[in-house]
Amino acid sequence: MTSPPYNLGKAYERRESLEDYLASQRQAIAECVRVTRSGGSICWQVGPHIDNHGQVIPLDLLLYPLFAAHQKSDALRLRNRIVWQYAHGLHCIRRFSGRYEVILWFTKGDDYVFHLDPVRVPQKYPGKRSYKGSKRGAYSGNPLGKNPGDVWDFPSVKSSHVEKTIHPCQFPVELPARLVLALSNAGDLILDPFLGSGTTAVAAVLHGRRAAGSDVIKEYVDIARKRVIHAARGTLRIRPLGREIILYSPNSDLTTPPPGFRFPRSPGDQLACPGIPDSQSPVPAHA
Ligand SMILES: C[S@@+](CC[C@H](N)C(=O)[O-])C[C@H]1O[C@@H](n2cnc3c(N)ncnc32)[C@H](O)[C@@H]1O
Repeated sequence: MTSPPYNLGKAYERRESLEDYLASQRQAIAECVRVTRSGGSICWQVGPHIDNHGQVIPLDLLLYPLFAAHQKSDALRLRNRIVWQYAHGLHCIRRFSGRYEVILWFTKGDDYVFHLDPVRVPQKYPGKRSYKGSKRGAYSGNPLGKNPGDVWDFPSVKSSHVEKTIHPCQFPVELPARLVLALSNAGDLILDPFLGSGTTAVAAVLHGRRAAGSDVIKEYVDIARKRVIHAARGTLRIRPLGREIILYSPNSDLTTPPPGFRFPRSPGDQLACPGIPDSQSPVPAHA
């Protein structure tokens, strides 16, 4: 499980030609395919690369052929192209603001580990009943919850996020945690070759897996080590798995449109956060 550099010229990378970038990704992917055991998974999480013309280059589409090249020799199969969406980020002026990234999930072989129950999410309508057939009148949903689908909504790690470190591009623990729980067994070894602040390793350790990883920047490896130790001791602060994204009360100062704003609230608006009294101070989405 990894999130490689996107070749954006971030603090930890030198912006290089797309050809050179893809050549180094080809090498990293080939090594990951080599060390993944049969029945194991590879998850590659990427956002877009933006070139010097402001052009959006969808990295997952360019990287897919590098994985597909292993289809025959290593039986690498794409199982899902997962969209990770989030509400906040840069506000673009000359295109629509980017609010999702992608995870390519491949398995090595056709007989692979997949545990749905640990990652099920609440049913939208748990009280729904069958309306025909022999089960007519019986509750129709799975009591353990529903399949989370392939569009995942987790807050990104901005400065107010409880997991934020000095790393400029962390993903939230809940993202690799869902994959670790679904795609591996307790005791398995989870590798992140572009470890960053160690989020994948944290997710692995929190869920009884072993972790390994590498990064070219020692400072990040030091942070990753500390986070893993705290995770093992149960002292790492994380956003809990499955926590709902809490919206600000619609009657708070923050959600009240000032005079002259284009979209005044209509009188029929619902409480965004039923159960939270309007008087209560607003709760940030990342809390
Ligand atoms: C998108 S970040 C990963 C962030 C990580 N998922 C987290 O939550 O902190 C990519 C990382 O790859 C590292 N990196 C860049 N080139 C590398 C290389 N050749 N080998 C290993 N790591 C590299 C960067 O230092 C950076 O920390």
